[in-house]
Amino acid sequence: MIKTIHLTVNGRAVELGVDQRESLTDTLRNRLGLTSVKKGCEAGECGACTVLLDGKSVNSCIYLSVWADGHSILTVEGLTKENGELHPIQQAFVEEAAIQCGFCTPGLVMTGVEIANSGKTYTREELRELISGHLCRCTGYENILNALERVVGRKENGTL
Ligand code: FES
Ligand code: FES
Repeated sequence: MIKTIHLTVNGRAVELGVDQRESLTDTLRNRLGLTSVKKGCEAGECGACTVLLDGKSVNSCIYLSVWADGHSILTVEGLTKENGELHPIQQAFVEEAAIQCGFCTPGLVMTGVEIANSGKTYTREELRELISGHLCRCTGYENILNALERVVGRKENGTL
């Protein structure tokens, strides 16, 4: 059954008819062309499909598009400013070489944005816990943590 939903996606109002069983990943990738949203496990295990829904990270593969009706969604495509300036989290990933194949990167960046938006700072161990829902098959976790520490790291034992 098709249901009409209204979303705000990366600041743009969108009206769509979606199958009630359609995942938010499929809507964002296949209908709206937002291919930063990756399909990994499609079971809520790897974090590759993470987007922000009203500012909170969700695994879009296990989130139905009809549930998102009336809500605001942010993906990596919505982070870069019109002048091309990257979000501080994206910039930190570049500077710390926190990207290998890049498959996990969009999801981790979105969780990083959520962490940064909290306005708090975190220790490395706290950051490790906060990104524990993400799998990096290239195992680049240390550089990813270095990138997050640049933006939201807390000085601890003189390590930062
Ligand atoms: S693709 Fe959604 S959590 Fe893995
Ligand atoms: S950079 Fe390849 S999966 Fe993380």
